[in-house]
Amino acid sequence: MDTMTAIATRRTIRKYTDQPVADELVRQLLNAGFVAPSAFDERPWHFVVVDDRATLQALAEKMESCEMLQTAALAILICGDPALEQFENYWVQDCSACAQNILLAAHANGLGGCWIAMERIPPREAAVREALAVPEHIAPFALLSLGYPDESLPGEDRYDASRVHHGQW
Ligand SMILES: Cc1cc2nc3c(=O)[nH]c(=O)nc-3n(C[C@H](O)[C@H](O)[C@H](O)COP(=O)(O)O)c2cc1C
Repeated sequence: MDTMTAIATRRTIRKYTDQPVADELVRQLLNAGFVAPSAFDERPWHFVVVDDRATLQALAEKMESCEMLQTAALAILICGDPALEQFENYWVQDCSACAQNILLAAHANGLGGCWIAMERIPPREAAVREALAVPEHIAPFALLSLGYPDESLPGEDRYDASRVHHGQW
């Protein structure tokens, strides 16, 4: 799938089949995260790959509105590590680029995914911190649920000319 098609047709997928995801593909998804742009090329991230069924189920039960984890083949927790930053407070933007790269790579490879926000949601942050033994100095940023889609959503034309300002506002 070419890049523009992947961008235009990616949708959030919250239902997955029970088909497992090959380790090599998981590595490709992680690589998509690692090659994301980051401020000053600081790459202030860590990833936790969660593919244990019981852990995914426990997370789905502990966190509100996270039912997509019940059928996900795996989830990737993207974490920010402020200690890796020489220039402070870019890690949220860096981790966002990472998340989008992984979701697009997943879609381009026939997977579906959902960005489950963690940052600024204390009960979710606490739940993943405890379940996945995330150290105190590391910030859970987003959990991406992933798997082969068991639902199909069409790409949408969302171009909104009223939000585009040419030359000046
Ligand atoms: C920062 C961010 C946080 C999100 N958090 C959640 C979430 O906690 N739970 C969820 O089901 N979807 C979450 N989403 C997915 C959005 O609901 C979804 O992207 C939006 O509805 C647009 O649909 P689309 O991804 O199919 O284009 C999040 C997306 C972003 C970018």
